[in-house]
Amino acid sequence: MIARTLLLLTLCGLTLTACDRVDPNSPLGQRKALFKQMLNTSEDLGGMLRGRIGFDEQRFAEGAVKLDQLSRQPWQHFPQVREENSSARDEVWQRQERFDQLARDLEASTAALVAASAQTPLKTAALAAPVDRVEKACKACHEEFRVY
Ligand code: HEC
Repeated sequence: MIARTLLLLTLCGLTLTACDRVDPNSPLGQRKALFKQMLNTSEDLGGMLRGRIGFDEQRFAEGAVKLDQLSRQPWQHFPQVREENSSARDEVWQRQERFDQLARDLEASTAALVAASAQTPLKTAALAAPVDRVEKACKACHEEFRVY
């Protein structure tokens, strides 16, 4: 028992994320992982347009498809009752219609991005507005429903 506690403490010292006490298989753990992937993917897309990373047509188009698939997934992992360690506001459960509407807005924006990135050859100028729309959809929901 003591050995196990020590082992856990050591692991916690090594990786912070493993130890914010969220079980990766819990609903919260699953949607957090999805949100993180969404962030990484959208940052790559934005980074390619803003010159932070080199623009690669295929990588961009694949990223758009991935983001679209990811953006449909977190919502099923919001349980009936709010968990204590969630950084979602109570409003998610109190104003579910509005929350759902913002989730659908995001999905529509990522679908539009996929459509825009299917028109080869890709022109970065034509992709700026669809990426901007996606980023605004993330921000709109966070402003209303996420605790920072
Ligand atoms: C419909 C609402 C909604 C939309 C749209 C949304 N999010 Fe979130 N996001 C949340 C909520 C609520 C949380 C708080 C964590 C929780 O309990 O689920 C969150 C948390 C996060 C987190 C933190 C995860 C963690 O480890 O705590 C990241 C990163 C994130 N979102 C990225 C994104 C990105 C990127 C987009 C757009 C591509 C996006 N979100 C769109 C509602 C949304």
